[in-house]
Amino acid sequence: MLLAGCTRTEEARRDPFTATGELVALSGGGAGAKRACITCHGLQGQGDGEATPWLAGLPEGYMQKQMQDYASGLRENEVMGPIAKALSHPDRLAVSTYYARLPRQVERGGGAPSALTSSTAGLLYQQGDPGRGLASCASCHGARGEGVGAANPPIAGQPAGYIQTQLDLWKKAKRRNDPQGQMLRISQRLTDTEVSALGEYVEALGRPAAPPAQAQAASP
Ligand code: HEC
Ligand code: HEC
Repeated sequence: MLLAGCTRTEEARRDPFTATGELVALSGGGAGAKRACITCHGLQGQGDGEATPWLAGLPEGYMQKQMQDYASGLRENEVMGPIAKALSHPDRLAVSTYYARLPRQVERGGGAPSALTSSTAGLLYQQGDPGRGLASCASCHGARGEGVGAANPPIAGQPAGYIQTQLDLWKKAKRRNDPQGQMLRISQRLTDTEVSALGEYVEALGRPAAPPAQAQAASP
């Protein structure tokens, strides 16, 4: 696993386009050294576990689009907006490609969905709520939050705070960049309690499964 990870990183580094991307990630490019991506997103693109999302292994097109949307203001954010604007268009593309090709740092589907479905958030995530016209999150993001296709991003293991913020931003139409407005419609039907519970649930989908309680009790 580790070895495969290293090889992927080495391959990525040899490619001139991702080499430019790596330079931007480490130096901040046009945004300046103080705003180098690694200072907030971590050396391996693993995020900070609190408010800053992980980037390593996100779909390339999704990331490139987010960088464009931050730059254009379609996705409003006071931290990422100025950074994306300060980068040249080619640098935005290159740095996205660099992160997309980094090995994933978060184990997706670590928490077994079957065990987690019993909670309100688990039911909502896995089955939706047809009565309210809510499609399941799983239908677009995967039962384990692993993402579906190029446009529906993986979300497992993103920090709960980050997930909750995104849902709130959509509710207020401050993030309005999803291609068909699905996330806007979905988030507006969720209560604040559900947003909060879904954040915790999605974060937990990215953790390694905990050992069963019995095994824990039996171990010295
Ligand atoms: C000062 C801290 C900071 C720096 C520096 C920074 N970021 Fe971010 N980044 C954030 C935060 C906080 C968010 C979440 C913003 C939001 O809610 O939209 C974020 C979000 C993102 C996202 C959206 C991820 C997703 O899952 O949709 C991308 C892509 C991204 N950053 C790329 C970069 C790149 C590339 C750089 C370097 C050029 C960079 N960031 C530098 C803090 C930072
Ligand atoms: C019909 C498909 C669909 C359904 C159902 C759906 N999503 Fe999404 N979701 C998307 C798409 C597409 C995006 C990416 C939007 C973009 O390009 O900015 C997204 C993005 C997100 C993001 C932002 C990810 C990031 O890295 O910033 C979060 C969080 C999220 N969805 C949570 C949920 C939750 C929780 C549910 C269930 C309540 C849900 N989604 C249901 C399609 C869907």
